[in-house]
Amino acid sequence: MGRSVLDLLRSDTRFVIAAAVVRPGSKLDGQPVDGVSAPGAVLYSTILDGLDADVLIDFSTPQAALQALQWCASQQVRMVSGTTGFDQQIPEVIGQACQSTAVLHSANFSLGVALLMRLVREAAAALPEWDLEIAEAHHARKEDAPSGTALALGRAAATARGHDFKRCADLVRQGHTGPRQPGHIGFAVTRAGDIVGEHSVLLAGCGERLELIHRADSRKIFARGALAAAAWLSGREPGRYQLEQVLQGMDSLQSR
Ligand SMILES: NC(=O)c1ccc[n+]([C@@H]2O[C@H](COP(=O)([O-])OP(=O)(O)OC[C@H]3O[C@@H](n4cnc5c(N)ncnc54)[C@H](OP(=O)(O)O)[C@@H]3O)[C@@H](O)[C@H]2O)c1
Repeated sequence: MGRSVLDLLRSDTRFVIAAAVVRPGSKLDGQPVDGVSAPGAVLYSTILDGLDADVLIDFSTPQAALQALQWCASQQVRMVSGTTGFDQQIPEVIGQACQSTAVLHSANFSLGVALLMRLVREAAAALPEWDLEIAEAHHARKEDAPSGTALALGRAAATARGHDFKRCADLVRQGHTGPRQPGHIGFAVTRAGDIVGEHSVLLAGCGERLELIHRADSRKIFARGALAAAAWLSGREPGRYQLEQVLQGMDSLQSR
């Protein structure tokens, strides 16, 4: 992800790269970042003290992300983070840091998925009697199911209808299930090949159906979303921000 972010930053005139951060002891430390012609020294760095930066973009490990978060809080540098896998609840971790700087963390930086979330909320509330089903597909190596994004879509739909997600989610159907329970949300999972990620939400009424589908073809979409978030976060007051707010602030969903 770090390389994807750097690739996009190189051709994006909204940004100047102040430094690229590597793990301590990396042989890249102190080396110029290839292909960048930005004013001033552009170096890979493990030592950030005194660095003049507005926003730090992090896709690393939970440990490195926490160190970066502390540094951002102490230097009042804003932080966009996509790192996942924290032991503790991420809101608690960010809680303190966002007292002194602006922080935006998202486990899914796809702008399309963020919009899908909003559309699903609207559709579920506008068509409360229609049956709602969620299907997702991912590559064969994925270890969890249904995906976190599929579950988040289900939660969003249930909440929009005033339902308790735990009570209405049909995560597995097998054998003599009987007829579909009104208001329940069913899940279907595919694991195959190298599918980056697909999510579809089906709303079915009598004689008509509505389908909302998102397909991720490249990991670059996550980098693009992080850059959109970084541009939006620049200049913001301390606090915790959500990717949804970035979408609301964009005139067009087409990020550069
Ligand atoms: N939110 C989203 O949309 C989204 C999308 C994709 C991935 N992710 C998450 O983003 C994270 C990174 O994903 P990835 O696929 O890029 O993983 P990865 O290939 O394992 O990359 C992690 C990077 O972090 C670096 N790193 C480790 N410790 C560091 C430190 N102390 N300081 C600076 N850099 C350090 C590693 O450096 P070395 O190469 O030297 O080990 C490596 O380059 C994961 O948590 C993943 O789940 C989120």
